Amino acid sequence: VRLVVLVSGSGSNLQALLDAAADPSYGASVVAVGADRPDIEGLRRAEKHGIPTFVASVPAFATRDEWDAFLTGACQQHAPDLIVSAGFMKLVGPRFLAAFEGRYINTHNALLPAFPGMHGPRDALAYGVKLAGATLHFVDSGVDTGAIIAQVAVPVLDDDTEDTLLERIKVAERRQLVDTVGRMARDGWTVNERKVRLGRG
Ligand code: GRF
Repeated sequence: VRLVVLVSGSGSNLQALLDAAADPSYGASVVAVGADRPDIEGLRRAEKHGIPTFVASVPAFATRDEWDAFLTGACQQHAPDLIVSAGFMKLVGPRFLAAFEGRYINTHNALLPAFPGMHGPRDALAYGVKLAGATLHFVDSGVDTGAIIAQVAVPVLDDDTEDTLLERIKVAERRQLVDTVGRMARDGWTVNERKVRLGRG
């Protein structure tokens, strides 16, 4: 199964996928990595593995629609079976969603539907919840609203700061991402009551 991974930052989730995919029995490999900005650690991680990269920077396009078209085309060039948003901080547009419906997933660092958006762990801490976690979900046109694929919970400790909580979440988040994407690659998945089967064995 061919994965395209989209990143905006450090790319630790991408790294976890790259490490897992080093084992051929994993069932998926990262064929390209895209970002919305140049010069980020996520792109460097891909380059170190000899994986092609592309940058789709919003300000480089006259309209958001042109950006969406470029991003869609850049992904299509790599014929992905599944696209993973791993810390990609941009909302894709209608063209992208139409092209990749049911094949575009995102990992979010909160237990949706609580705490969507940019600051999941900070918002969870401020609210005072005692369980936090991560959600892997299909992407639809909303912000972190698509159908949930998997969730993992971690405790919030009394002396947590945003950083310590985020780190604890990210450890669980990476494991969930690797396990779930591997299972999807090997067994296929169901979306809108349609079975998508891509596994080759
Ligand atoms: C993840 O926690 C993800 O949930 C959030 O951004 C973080 C990305 O981390 N949207 P990394 O770039 O994979 O290290």
